[in-house]
Amino acid sequence: MSDAIKISQDVYYIGVSDADIRTFDIIMKTANGTTYNAYLIKTEEGVIILDTVKEEFQEEFFEKVESLCSYDEIKYIVMHHLEPDHSGALPELTKRAPQAKIFISPMAQPMLKSIGKSDNMVFETVWTNKELKLGSKTLKFLSTPNLHWPETMSSYLVENQILFSGDVFGSHYYDSRVFDDLVGDFDYAFKYYYDHIMRPFKTDVLNALRLYEPLAIDMIANLHGPIIRNNPSKYLNLYKKWSSKDEKLHGKKVVSIFYVTSYKNTKEMAQSIFDGIESNDSLIANIYDLTALDESNMISILEESTGIIVGSPTINGDVPKPVWDLLSCMMLIEKRGKFGGCFGSYGWSGEAVEMMNSRLKSLKFRVPLPPMKIKLIPTKEELLDCYDFGHEFGEVVNGKMMEMTL
Ligand code: FEO
Repeated sequence: MSDAIKISQDVYYIGVSDADIRTFDIIMKTANGTTYNAYLIKTEEGVIILDTVKEEFQEEFFEKVESLCSYDEIKYIVMHHLEPDHSGALPELTKRAPQAKIFISPMAQPMLKSIGKSDNMVFETVWTNKELKLGSKTLKFLSTPNLHWPETMSSYLVENQILFSGDVFGSHYYDSRVFDDLVGDFDYAFKYYYDHIMRPFKTDVLNALRLYEPLAIDMIANLHGPIIRNNPSKYLNLYKKWSSKDEKLHGKKVVSIFYVTSYKNTKEMAQSIFDGIESNDSLIANIYDLTALDESNMISILEESTGIIVGSPTINGDVPKPVWDLLSCMMLIEKRGKFGGCFGSYGWSGEAVEMMNSRLKSLKFRVPLPPMKIKLIPTKEELLDCYDFGHEFGEVVNGKMMEMTL
């Protein structure tokens, strides 16, 4: 166990390390482990705790708290995020400091009741422009939802110029030296974390940056990995660059067709749909055989495409794995404003097309056209229908209004 660390005047790091964890949230690899960061602010009139830690590490967290104050000095607890890696010690903390009022975002209320395992917690909801004053310290709250849960928020300690950013600007990277200017090179972990946690919420990242950018930020006290005190603006700029949308090539919107094919029937459909999209001068159409596309390429193509059309035959009543791989990659991109469509040739019942269509709809893609299904070998007329499907899809991507099937 390490001691609490003073990170600024009256501000302490009371987080813990999880050095041996190698997979986080099922999908993330954590070669360097991670940390669950939490903070404590001391004032003349009492103490503020900012976030807690994963439950299994709570005794270390409490030892750090006890090294700095008694529980009856704790006036407030600020919970920027209620995921269990940060709220795990909250139920016990509220038992030990029952007088402490908890500050959360409005969206966090139902979650707090469930996580806190109590109806007796004293809490107040806060948002941008609300502030907490205690002694000589002023904590301004910032509404930063969806980063990466609906209830997430940030705060800014005015006198110390510290941004408490929640999961934003985190890294799954444990290093006992704690600060970004002392630890090893964690750039890979910072980008990997962004890609897996923040990338699907780029619009919300840009909204948060609009709140952060006017602030004088001397330090970013995040919830995972190194605390950032060396050139914080570098990390704001990286988030801005990665989150700024570029869904146009040469001033044109992109529509991408992904397909797999057994007997070239679905491929023929794909080609006719491609021609239909290309008939619209203000679009660029891409076409990809999924069996030869790496996952990292799938993600970047999905991201740059405003329209995404997926084609597959039905094999054993199902969608083949390369298509499921593409569909699962979609959890890592922002779907807002994107259009989806599906097609495929089939031999018997043809379930694949409906499965893909239903996946796109459940991910909240706008699906303007019914899926295009053709039994076995497409005729010339059917290929013309595919061409029309592509043309019509392109028109909608380009702004033509029509009733969505969603
Ligand atoms: Fe680090 Fe979203 O919890």
